[in-house]
Amino acid sequence: MTTKIQRNNNRVVLTAPLDGKPQPEDFKTISEPIPEPADGEMLIRHIYLSLDPYQRSMIAGRHGAARPLSEGDMPNGETVGQVVQSRHPSFAEGDYVRHFGGWQKYSVSDGTQTFTVDPEQAPLSTYVGVLGMPGLTAYASMIELAEVEAGQTVLVSAAHGPVGSMVGQIAIQQGATAIGIAGSDEKCRLVVEDLGFSACINYKNKRYPGSLEDALPNGADIYHDNVGGDMLAEALSVLKNYGPVILCGLISHYNDPS
Ligand SMILES: NC(=O)c1ccc[n+]([C@@H]2O[C@H](COP(=O)([O-])OP(=O)(O)OC[C@H]3O[C@@H](n4cnc5c(N)ncnc54)[C@H](OP(=O)(O)O)[C@@H]3O)[C@@H](O)[C@H]2O)c1
Repeated sequence: MTTKIQRNNNRVVLTAPLDGKPQPEDFKTISEPIPEPADGEMLIRHIYLSLDPYQRSMIAGRHGAARPLSEGDMPNGETVGQVVQSRHPSFAEGDYVRHFGGWQKYSVSDGTQTFTVDPEQAPLSTYVGVLGMPGLTAYASMIELAEVEAGQTVLVSAAHGPVGSMVGQIAIQQGATAIGIAGSDEKCRLVVEDLGFSACINYKNKRYPGSLEDALPNGADIYHDNVGGDMLAEALSVLKNYGPVILCGLISHYNDPS
């Protein structure tokens, strides 16, 4: 007698509508049968899930969401995974793909916004990192919008994160100087020592915002803003006249009710 192996799909869902900063008890894992792909669909086993700040806004019904999520709803998110069963003409079993699979182990896709990725070209995780949305965001910011040039000084907040770290590194590649802002001495050490920024200011340090002025005696040519709020105001005080601000994100507001 053979025993049928049960394969379940673990999904993370909300226990209640989110109010303010998310807490562990706002989420729970549920187990459901793995869905069957229909004709023209494929089943994907997720390997990586990207947790990005915009997802907090999406849960609140912003960032293109049709409504706020509530109890039992699963947040969406971009994933890299492998096709384990295919009834889709353009995708074969074994293909690696990037798509919006959500906070779960398996998903079914009909091919919409689903792209094959090649693990021989780059590690799979990079397709939701430097070769994915954060990397392309940073590229668009520095190259397309700010048109950063050699000799300029770029200030970037959340400098240790996926977008900020790439913004600084692209600026440096273009011959500019990168100055970061981050939330701990350890993050700042990595930003300078590993990523090559010229300086990094810990905004939780007592000397902030004076330390920002110390690091930028001649001011910044460009500010890439990931945070908004008070940090934007402080950054503007060290931005040169007519210097561009790339308003990329407003992390300091994502837990706000509206
Ligand atoms: N990920 C993407 O592909 C993408 C695309 C487009 C736009 N964006 C936007 O770009 C920004 C950065 O994205 P990311 O994915 O690189 O984010 P991230 O760095 O992973 O964002 C989390 C970090 O933001 C900082 N932070 C959180 N709350 C803050 C607050 N109140 N004040 C100051 N800093 C705060 C914290 O770092 P510290 O400890 O250093 O404070 C935290 O570790 C976000 O606003 C996001 O919405 C991201």
